[in-house]
Amino acid sequence: MKSPPAAPLPASPRWGKEPEEEPGPASSSSSSSSAAAAAAAAAAPSFGRLLQVALLRVVARTVDAVLLLPRPALRRLWWAGLASQPSPYAEGFPVLMESRRHGVPISDFVYGEVFVAPTRRLLKGLGIGPGSVVVDLGCGRGAVLVASSSLGANSRGVELLPMHVGVIGGAAKAAGVAVVEGDARLADVDDADLVWLSWATWSPATRLAVRGRLLGLKPGALVCAVVHGVDDALLDGGFGVDGAFATVKTMRLWCSWGRTTVVVSRRTHQVLSDADRYSVR
Ligand SMILES: C[S@@+](CC[C@H](N)C(=O)[O-])C[C@H]1O[C@@H](n2cnc3c(N)ncnc32)[C@H](O)[C@@H]1O
Repeated sequence: MKSPPAAPLPASPRWGKEPEEEPGPASSSSSSSSAAAAAAAAAAPSFGRLLQVALLRVVARTVDAVLLLPRPALRRLWWAGLASQPSPYAEGFPVLMESRRHGVPISDFVYGEVFVAPTRRLLKGLGIGPGSVVVDLGCGRGAVLVASSSLGANSRGVELLPMHVGVIGGAAKAAGVAVVEGDARLADVDDADLVWLSWATWSPATRLAVRGRLLGLKPGALVCAVVHGVDDALLDGGFGVDGAFATVKTMRLWCSWGRTTVVVSRRTHQVLSDADRYSVR
């Protein structure tokens, strides 16, 4: 198997836009679908589309608020993130500095988030409950962690941007949710029953490095990957599929930017040599 390529960077950072749904099946990794997604991302949203998204957010967050009424600590965590949604313009410069510091394109930091209720339903359907370990790599302001914790799962988030961690850190601790500032490309996920990846806008190089970390998962552990399936990280990097993951199903989920695709994969029993583990460690 050939060695990982030098990090290919996107031509134009898309900071300020939220992740766009790709047309066609999420597991497709063809360059034409990437080009179509880039073109869609470049197109300015119409007034009608903005209105739809605004309405969606109001309705979905009202449902989330009701769901969290009997869970005060999680409600405070959810609210801490919601009350200070990232403003791309105000935070642009610090985020640019972080992208330089970590050597990743600024588009890796495009922000969008799941809604709690539909994510909770999806996780419950996958068997997540008390005792499960859920890790959200790139946890942002903690929406996935609120969903998994509401099911009784032991939830942990890893986030590269200190401003996100700063906003939710206190409320997360009070709710018994671990949120650490760290790099998903270096994260240890070996104990996870399920890893969540809202990595739609992450560069191919970042996704390839993160996929390397996922090889440490135990057989049977699940990965929920938004838009790009786990094996897309290999295919987009020019590698063949290694059999470490099997697609379980593809689902649709309402998120803050609209309806998106979540590809659910399962870690197989496939054992790979160290040389096959694409990791930056
Ligand atoms: C689209 S947001 C998703 C937030 C949350 N997971 C959700 O779905 O609601 C992606 C997050 O990944 C973070 N991120 C990007 N690259 C990362 C990396 N290498 N390590 C950890 N977090 C990263 C971004 O800062 C951003 O907060």
